[in-house]
Amino acid sequence: MCGIVGYIGKQQAAEIILEGLEKLEYRGYDSAGMAVYDGEKVNIAKAMGRLQVLKEVTHGGATVPGHLGIGHTRWATHGEPSDVNAHPHTNKNGTIAVVHNGIIENYISLKKKLKNKGYTFKSETDTEVIPQLLDYYYNGNPLETISKVIQRIEGSYSLGIIFADHPDEIYAARKSSPLIVAKNDEGCFIASDATALLRYTRNVYYIGEEEIAVLKADDVHFYDSDAEEIEKPVTEIKWDANAAEKGGYEYFMLKEIYEEPKTVRDTLNPRIRDNKVVIDELNMTDDEIKAIGKIHIVACGSAYHTGVTARYVLEGMARIPVEVDIASEFRYRDPLLDPSDLVIVISQSGETADTKAAVEEAHRKGCQVLAIVNVVGSSIAREADKVMYTWAGPEISVATTKAYSAQLIALYLIALKFASARGTISDDQLASYIHDLRKLPQQIELLLGEKEKIQKFANRYTAAKDVFFIGRGIDYAISLEGSLKLKEISYVHSEAYAAGELKHGTISLIEEGTLVVALVTQKDLYDKTISNIREVKARGAFVMAVTNVDNPDIEKVADYSVYIPETDQFFTNSLAVIPLQLFGYYVSLGKGFDVDHPRNLAKSVTVE
Ligand code: G6P
Repeated sequence: MCGIVGYIGKQQAAEIILEGLEKLEYRGYDSAGMAVYDGEKVNIAKAMGRLQVLKEVTHGGATVPGHLGIGHTRWATHGEPSDVNAHPHTNKNGTIAVVHNGIIENYISLKKKLKNKGYTFKSETDTEVIPQLLDYYYNGNPLETISKVIQRIEGSYSLGIIFADHPDEIYAARKSSPLIVAKNDEGCFIASDATALLRYTRNVYYIGEEEIAVLKADDVHFYDSDAEEIEKPVTEIKWDANAAEKGGYEYFMLKEIYEEPKTVRDTLNPRIRDNKVVIDELNMTDDEIKAIGKIHIVACGSAYHTGVTARYVLEGMARIPVEVDIASEFRYRDPLLDPSDLVIVISQSGETADTKAAVEEAHRKGCQVLAIVNVVGSSIAREADKVMYTWAGPEISVATTKAYSAQLIALYLIALKFASARGTISDDQLASYIHDLRKLPQQIELLLGEKEKIQKFANRYTAAKDVFFIGRGIDYAISLEGSLKLKEISYVHSEAYAAGELKHGTISLIEEGTLVVALVTQKDLYDKTISNIREVKARGAFVMAVTNVDNPDIEKVADYSVYIPETDQFFTNSLAVIPLQLFGYYVSLGKGFDVDHPRNLAKSVTVE
């Protein structure tokens, strides 16, 4: 991940690549690189850090002359940020160069096969299997070879590829990761994001799923995955540069909500193999898992809320006692930790000061720390004993959405892994859980398809003063996140309450018209929460219920209902959170706030 730019034409490729990558800087990255063909061979330049470093190293591109090249800004997923892990990656002879966005899910087995055939690898990336596989299958015809390779790789990819022995062409292919092609009088371009190309042209072609594009200096051809030629219409981009950065969405938050199905797939799929959960990073034997005495989950903000959910899931599935702590509390309460306990810290940024301090506290007390982190190579990732990465990609909006969803998936996977190792679930149960997890991305897409309904509802509540979110069990954990999403970006006071706790004080705040959002996804607790809904209704509340599709009776008590598709009771958070994120977003939008930059808040809190 994260940005791709490629060019073939009359101009110097390196200059255009650097200019294009500069336009993609807003997406976040940790290293950059490019491959340019100079008429004889492919020259590679890479540099960790800012794009400026690559510019300096190449004297603004002058040291890598040529009219054909591909460039990349990397946001690390597999392997730390470093020169060697930066793209482009090549085959051994340096005759095939590749830049890649996305995640190759089966890279471990491909790497193994290639190693058995004598291939050696320089980097820790998943990407490097691609040039090596291309090399392995190469028959002198790049198109046929790419077609073969994309049928063997699983996961998401957008690819820019050059072959030294076909110096008049750039090849591109994509699946579940964006890539566009454009053409003007000066040449042809590829880019992962229209922003990089707007200064050259607004006429673009969208490459479809598993399609291949072949670019020459003055022409582009498209092919399906079997290398059969297909026709593509030109599309004119009408967005301004600002909207283009956000892929046409008004704010990054909405764009990132729309990325959730992909994020869930990317975090989940590579860790399911042969209907088993495989978390290579965990590196724990079943005996070690059985020996865990207790789990302590420690995090801040939304990451803490995923921990609250995980307590129910881990205890319910794996029958291990779990304590969940807010990191700023954990560090000062002298927690009772036993060396047989496992401490799990959760952090999108991997830089949150309190969460970092929790890692230190756990180490001081002799515990192993497993970190669930989104930013590869971040401080927490470096300090923890084991790291399980969420593959959500860079998150720009301050209010987290897709990283939250990815954290939930990582935690479900840990729970399933621990439960099977400890024998608390059968193989059949495991298969059924995996089946439900695999359905989540599509179910999230369904919920996103109903966004207008939530928007309409949110527009009625832009003037709300107080909102309460209530739920029991996992529904309480979802309420915490729903409430935070609303208050942090729309500045509406809101609180999350365990539904049964309402009558111990909070219910006195309910007045005529107060909005209460009731989460009702836990079947065993339906009746209990419905009683709580009746209590607030009796005091004048307007109730929006978020419930399962099989619970239409809710309409007898709630004023407005949102239904989530059928999933296992442990996983409902992943679906129920979507309408709540959208609700927070649309209330903020309706009030005219800068959704992505809420006042007084920071994306990463590196101070106490
Ligand atoms: C900040 C962000 C939250 C985030 C929290 C923890 O408050 O605004 O969205 O949940 O920090 O951040 P982390 O990077 O550790 O997940």
